[in-house]
Amino acid sequence: MAEKVKVLLTEEEVDAKIQAIGEQISKDYEGKQVHLVCVLKGGSFFMCELAKRITVPVSIDFMSVSSYGSETKSSGVVKIVKDLDEPLLGKDVIVIEDIVDSGRTLSYLMEMLKDRKPASLRLCTLLDKPDRRVVDVNVDYLGFQIPDEFVVGYGLDYDQKYRNLPYIGIVEFE
Ligand code: IMP
Ligand code: MG
Repeated sequence: MAEKVKVLLTEEEVDAKIQAIGEQISKDYEGKQVHLVCVLKGGSFFMCELAKRITVPVSIDFMSVSSYGSETKSSGVVKIVKDLDEPLLGKDVIVIEDIVDSGRTLSYLMEMLKDRKPASLRLCTLLDKPDRRVVDVNVDYLGFQIPDEFVVGYGLDYDQKYRNLPYIGIVEFE
């Protein structure tokens, strides 16, 4: 199927927002070290840009989960495909995600990570589609609330394409 991508948030808008979140996190974690947990693959572009703008010491780790979904919907069944390399015990952890949609993936993930006894655990997501929420998720740092549209860019894909777009676009199917 052919598709087109229409700009929703420009590169400048996204960059400015990431700068602001980075400043906020730097303030909130003054005197501490933050441990960023990136949810692959979508969170990777956002995490790298954000990490560069945090002024307190930062460590990073990655995990990959799959939600057994179709291309545009997640099923709620979450499987860990790649686990973290490091324990979370006693760390100030911020989970970095690309988008919270139904909330199923994140609510499962946050519960699982809480069991690993971090000193603190927060969630930072670039995008939020509140209209689609099925399971409640507490977002501590948010980039943008967006309408119920399928978006790509800045790590988000459609059929593994468009992750490299430096802006957020809406996919229009023809
Ligand atoms: P949730 O469990 O429904 O919140 O789904 C979250 C995951 O679905 C995200 O981490 C994305 O990988 C994917 N997803 C949800 N909405 C979009 C979208 O608009 N574009 C690309 N991926 C999306
Ligand atoms: Mg994701």
